[in-house]
Parts: sequence; C-alpha cells; structure tokens
Amino acid sequence: MTYSELYSYAKSRLTEYEAMCIMEDIFEFDRSKLAIHGNEIPENKKDFLTAVEKRAKGIPLQYATGKAYFMGREYFVGEGVLIPRDDTEVAVNECIEFMTGNERVIDLCSGSGIIAVTLAKEFPKAEIYAVELENKAFAYLEKNVKYHHADVKLVHDSIFNENCVEGEFDIIISNPPYICTDIIPDLQSEVQYEPKTALDGGNDGLDFYRCIAEKWVKKLRKGGKIILEIGEEQAKSVGELLKVQEITQISVVKDIQNLDRVVFGTVRK
Ligand SMILES: C[S@@+](CC[C@H](N)C(=O)[O-])C[C@H]1O[C@@H](n2cnc3c(N)ncnc32)[C@H](O)[C@@H]1O
Repeated sequence: MTYSELYSYAKSRLTEYEAMCIMEDIFEFDRSKLAIHGNEIPENKKDFLTAVEKRAKGIPLQYATGKAYFMGREYFVGEGVLIPRDDTEVAVNECIEFMTGNERVIDLCSGSGIIAVTLAKEFPKAEIYAVELENKAFAYLEKNVKYHHADVKLVHDSIFNENCVEGEFDIIISNPPYICTDIIPDLQSEVQYEPKTALDGGNDGLDFYRCIAEKWVKKLRKGGKIILEIGEEQAKSVGELLKVQEITQISVVKDIQNLDRVVFGTVRK
C-alpha cells in the first residue's frame, strides 16, 4: 500500500483529522508531503495500521500513536500515563511568570513530565525535581526527560513521603489526581483508558491537596510559591487548605473556558 492508499484507508475508519494526525505521528507526513510522496510505499506500514486499529477501537488517539504534544514539545505517552491536557498550560505559564531562572522547583505527581521538562527547558539553570510514584508513568517520565535532554532530577516515590527529597524549594507546582472516586466511572469512555491512579483524588477529590498543604508547604522557602492545578469546583476548598498553612496572597487563575484552573499562593516572608 502507498501512503495515499493508507491515508484513504484510515479516513474510511476514522475522521479525516484523526487519519491526518496518525499520518503525521507515524510517517511525519503533512498534507504537502502526502501530495508529493503519496505514491511511494512506506516501510513502517504496520505501525500505521496498528495505530488506526487502536483508534478505531476507541483507544485515545495519543495512546494509539504513542505521542502527545504540550507547549510545542512532543512527549511519549501510552497506557499507564495520563495524556497531557492543554489545561495544564495555565499552571506552567503562572510558574514561568514567577521564575527568574535560578529557583529550586519541585513538580509533584509528574506523570509524563510535561511540567518539569517545560520548566527545565525554559530555565536551564534552575534546579528542577520531578516526583512520580507509578512504575509505568515513571518510565515515561524518564524517557521524556532523556528525549528532551532536560536537566530534571527524578524521584520515584510517593508524595505522601515528603522526605523523598531533602531541602527547601522556591516553587512547588503540581497537577495531582483530583477527581472524586465516585465520579470516575461516569467520565467519558476515552478517559477510562487512562490510569485511575492519575485521576483518583479520594472521596472528595482533595486527598493530594491535603497532603501537599500539610506535608510540602513547610518545605517552601519564605516568599516561595505554590501553584496547583485544580478541578473547576475546587478553588475554594484548595484555597482554604492553603490558608491554614502559612500561605498568603491566594489567587485563582481561570482557563480559556473561564473555569477555575489554578490556585496559587505565597509563603509568608
Ligand atoms: C493528574 S496526573 C498529572 C500528570 C502530569 N503532571 C500532567 O500534568 O500531565 C497525576 C499523576 O500523579 C501520579 N501519582 C498518583 N499517586 C501518586 C503519589 N502518591 N505520589 C506521586 N505521584 C502519584 C499519577 O501516577 C499521575 O502520573
């Protein structure tokens, strides 16, 4: 089969958009390359057809191709690691705004590593740590850090063990699991392919925020920042958890859909 025939086949099984995404991810082909080389025969036809079949079965596109994109960079993903969401840009942009470049920063619940890698690439002199517990997610984290030649110190441990990293930090950033346990079965079918361990924030969705407030805030330097991605209805509860600790100037940032997406605050000087 030629590239054009493979593309036509993919379009017969999937949407045109999905067929083109798989062309791009597997063959690095865009529409203009397809027009020029459409009659040639690719070597990795099998990878393409496997991705099409996976997607046709309802497996998320990013798991089907093994690739996802975040803030202009490509990441390896697959079953066992959360697919990066554009929503997370809100937290990362807040962090970038605060940073001068010499900070010691920790990304808790790092998953594929999108937050830690972005910060390490934007601020090569900063000292960036990434903590991830789950084995499969940690393997993707390691792979993505290597792929981007990012200077990130990897910690394979639970954030419930705050002693897994020593010393104080200027910034704590996290997109932890934050969905209430009971709601998970009702989420859309594609999300069911993602690891529950990346979604489940306990009965009220706040287990990880409680952990971060109680165990990690004390590891922030005076004047240090905490930046937490949240579910759209969690701003008030997360803000209250931070207020009990030494956090002031608590603010909420909205995403492009005007939903609360990030809570951030500063440790009293
Ligand atoms: C919502 S995902 C976020 C992943 C990534 N930061 C992102 O924004 O795409 C939460 C991550 O927390 C990890 N996780 C779950 N429990 C953990 C724990 N106790 N300690 C460290 N990481 C944990 C999950 O494996 C998952 O990768």
